[in-house]
Amino acid sequence: MSERTLLIVKPDGVARGLVGEVIARVEARGFRLCAIQMLRLDDERAGEFYAIHRGKPFYRPLVEFMTSGPVVVVLLEADRAVQGLRELVGVTDPAKAEIGTVRGDMGTTIQANVVHASDSPETARAEIGFFFGPRALSGCA
Ligand code: CMP
Repeated sequence: MSERTLLIVKPDGVARGLVGEVIARVEARGFRLCAIQMLRLDDERAGEFYAIHRGKPFYRPLVEFMTSGPVVVVLLEADRAVQGLRELVGVTDPAKAEIGTVRGDMGTTIQANVVHASDSPETARAEIGFFFGPRALSGCA
């Protein structure tokens, strides 16, 4: 069943010139690009996006990192998109991510792990709405 998910190329990925490589990998795996935007998060928006991690020791450094430079936010569609994208990006810590995954091949630290991918269909809906607004929830252009 066709499903939608959200990918963010984080500030380290953008700064290192990895946007094209990341997008090439998702396209090659059959994901359709529905929408894309480059933006810089401010403290409030980054804090809101990662609200679930508020109170954790890595929350403040995470917000600071995510506001340190521009990010590229991509709305993707595919069959089983959420799980498929998670497999393609690999686990959170690049040191533990498999070779062949985005984080395993390109990530440097648990913070500078190149990308964020929605972790469930419910989170994907919330994250898509957060960046692209409620109208983006209905389908690919
Ligand atoms: P992401 O998938 O964007 O979700 C939250 C982010 O917090 C995560 O990727 C990591 O980049 C970052 N992070 C930093 N330290 C940790 C940690 N100890 N555990 C989990 N996530 C961490």
